[in-house]
Amino acid sequence: MNNSIFDTDRRIRLGIWGLGRGRDFFKTAKALNFDVVAGCDFNEHMRRAFREANPDAFVTADADEFLAQDFDAVLLATFCPNHAADAIRCLAAGKHVLSEVTAFFTLAEGVALVEAVEKSGRVYNLAENYPFTPVLRYLKRKWDEGLFGKLMYAEFEYVHECRLLAYTYIDGKPIEPGDRVHSWRSWLNYHYYCTHSLGPAMIITGERPTEVVALPGGPRLPGYLPLAEEGMGGAAPSLVKMSGGGIVRNLMGATTNDTHIQRLWGTRGSAEVNVGDELKLRLGGGGHTLKLPVRPSGDALDELARSTGHGGGDFWVLYYFARQILTGVPAPFDIYTAADVTIPGIQAVRSAHAGGQPMPVPDFRDPAQRDRYRTDDWRQKPYDTRNGLFPAGADRTRTTQFSTTMADLIRSCLLYRQWADWSRVIEDVKEPAKIHALRDELMRKLPEIRRTYAAARSLIEAYPESDAAQVLREMLTEVGDESRVMAPGFDAELRNWNGPLPERILDVS
Ligand SMILES: NC(=O)c1ccc[n+]([C@@H]2O[C@H](COP(=O)([O-])OP(=O)(O)OC[C@H]3O[C@@H](n4cnc5c(N)ncnc54)[C@H](O)[C@@H]3O)[C@@H](O)[C@H]2O)c1
Repeated sequence: MNNSIFDTDRRIRLGIWGLGRGRDFFKTAKALNFDVVAGCDFNEHMRRAFREANPDAFVTADADEFLAQDFDAVLLATFCPNHAADAIRCLAAGKHVLSEVTAFFTLAEGVALVEAVEKSGRVYNLAENYPFTPVLRYLKRKWDEGLFGKLMYAEFEYVHECRLLAYTYIDGKPIEPGDRVHSWRSWLNYHYYCTHSLGPAMIITGERPTEVVALPGGPRLPGYLPLAEEGMGGAAPSLVKMSGGGIVRNLMGATTNDTHIQRLWGTRGSAEVNVGDELKLRLGGGGHTLKLPVRPSGDALDELARSTGHGGGDFWVLYYFARQILTGVPAPFDIYTAADVTIPGIQAVRSAHAGGQPMPVPDFRDPAQRDRYRTDDWRQKPYDTRNGLFPAGADRTRTTQFSTTMADLIRSCLLYRQWADWSRVIEDVKEPAKIHALRDELMRKLPEIRRTYAAARSLIEAYPESDAAQVLREMLTEVGDESRVMAPGFDAELRNWNGPLPERILDVS
């Protein structure tokens, strides 16, 4: 008899490389036969947090030293575009790998990674977690039972506005040194980050993508880099042809409405869910047949998973990884499925660059197809995250204030903008008290907000032609209404603002 979820007491010694996202797994790992014995991050504050949570583990900033330690598997959560090279280093050190998304940044890297996994005999999984929420696991079971028929069309989204993360680490701390921006969140074309939306469509239907098409994107949100090219600050929709002939509309991006809407149309029935809301099914094979909300049933493991991150998804990726190491049962995202879900992002960027030309999604299970992409190094040009913000020779005592100023400015401007825009429709909203609460918060924080605006303006004036000045200026003028907020009478304007209170709205109706 053993206490394990699996039928064995065997433990897996786990090292975590990249301690930002990596820290989400500390707690769950224990229940799934993992012992966290080592951590690696070149950021001291990430190592400190790791040490506090795992006092007996070895921790270092040096990847070679980390990989030389005696452990079985790596949870790889380093910078997104570096995953292939980092995973190959882990495999070469004899470790199993659970890699964060995405699996690789170019098709050539993808070929190299697939072949490194094949040669290593180690387990490689991708930690794509979004398909494993209770609702989507339920849909997968029902799809496999044939309830929905064949896939006709689906819409999946990962729309996540993360402007702040271009200028801070994942724990909210501004990037250091402060005259730099985030290694990849400051510039990566959002198409690359396609796995949280395409992954669920693939897992539920069991189909793989075969072709992708994307048009060049439209306007970007203020305050995002890079200035002239596409980055994370816009909408990134693509259409993906699946192996059964159906189409998936895959929407990523940063917009003015974070959404995770998931809709599936099969030839026998359809399903829709807006994450956090209830699942609705329409069954019966017609467009207007009975449609009802459904309570997805789960099992005991679903209950256990529910308490962990990303709607239980973090539990399941660790579960599948442990199960494959301990029992050999393959995980949903092995290296080939990882390639299937990663390639459409790369090819969508390429399609958009080619004005919307459809691009194939090669199947890297097939060595002949791999041969065609072995030297295909096509990639988005990265932003110069170290030197791109300010001119050479700029005064670093000033420029290193940038990341803190920008992070504060984003928070300040969004608070102001919410109040300013909501107050324009306050007569029409159901909960006007929430708009009064925004005004109260704005009043309370006004001195601090004005200090931030002034610091931003001073950096702009010091280096007016720089990229830093441009993103600061966009926030100040397009979002933050600098001239209104800095005007001497704005305190009084806020104090005297008398948006309708709930009683007055009731009177009117
Ligand atoms: N699946 C999800 O829900 C989810 C959520 C968040 C992040 N992620 C993924 O996890 C990965 C990490 O994301 P993050 O949010 O922690 O941000 P991040 O990219 O800032 O974190 C990477 C961390 O790894 C460290 N690092 C990178 N290269 C290193 C090296 N060679 N040696 C030592 N340390 C190194 C960095 O210092 C940093 O702390 C990303 O690829 C991201 O896509 C996934």
